[in-house]
Amino acid sequence: MEILEGINARQSIRAFKPDPVARDVLNKILQAVSNSPSYTNSQPWEVVMVMGKKKDELGRKLLELARAKAPTSPDLPMPKGWPAALEERSREHGARRLTTLGVARDDEEGREKLRLMNFEFYGAPCAVFLFIDGSLGEWSIFDMGLFAQNLILAAHSLGVESCLQASVTNYAPEIKKFLGIAESKKLVICVSLGYPDKKAKLNTYRSLKEKPDEFTRWYE
Ligand SMILES: Cc1cc2nc3c(=O)[nH]c(=O)nc-3n(C[C@H](O)[C@H](O)[C@H](O)COP(=O)(O)O)c2cc1C
Repeated sequence: MEILEGINARQSIRAFKPDPVARDVLNKILQAVSNSPSYTNSQPWEVVMVMGKKKDELGRKLLELARAKAPTSPDLPMPKGWPAALEERSREHGARRLTTLGVARDDEEGREKLRLMNFEFYGAPCAVFLFIDGSLGEWSIFDMGLFAQNLILAAHSLGVESCLQASVTNYAPEIKKFLGIAESKKLVICVSLGYPDKKAKLNTYRSLKEKPDEFTRWYE
């Protein structure tokens, strides 16, 4: 697939078919992602692929925690607040998702159901966890953003779609314990991977994006 075409067509997927992604397809994706750029070629990424029964078991544990509204402890803290324009885009994004599904804003149960879908990886057969060493800081997080973007684009080029999921990282200590990962590592992001359920309502809307003129200044 041509790169520009892939960038333009990719979108987050929030309903997957249960069909597994073959190991050779996943290996092809990982091979491509290994070519990601990083600060002084430090390659900080540590990748954990979770599939099959192990993924189901982890999903059940996370769902239990999320349902009980267990205390959260992400390794990357949320900002205390967002600038107004960003806050508005985020609110609009949430509202559009609810409208697409026909869930009313005051339908607490419907909204909760939607939130909880995160913790079952939206039904994806593969959950990818991206870690870095706990001593690393902003530049390595930056590298991980590039790595994650390459991951989802490489997957997309092979018909495998994705959803990045910061929400899952709320339970970083429990995930590390479950996976046998040292507490000192930082969980940066979870990426659900699989084949999209194209008929699912959740996959029918595209996020609104600002136009280049709205975020770019030119100087000559
Ligand atoms: C760092 C990051 C964290 C995200 N976390 C979640 C998440 O927890 N749950 C979710 O459904 N989508 C999550 N997303 C997906 C965004 O909502 C999505 O990228 C955005 O709305 C733009 O839509 P698009 O990916 O279809 O272009 C996350 C995206 C990023 C980059």
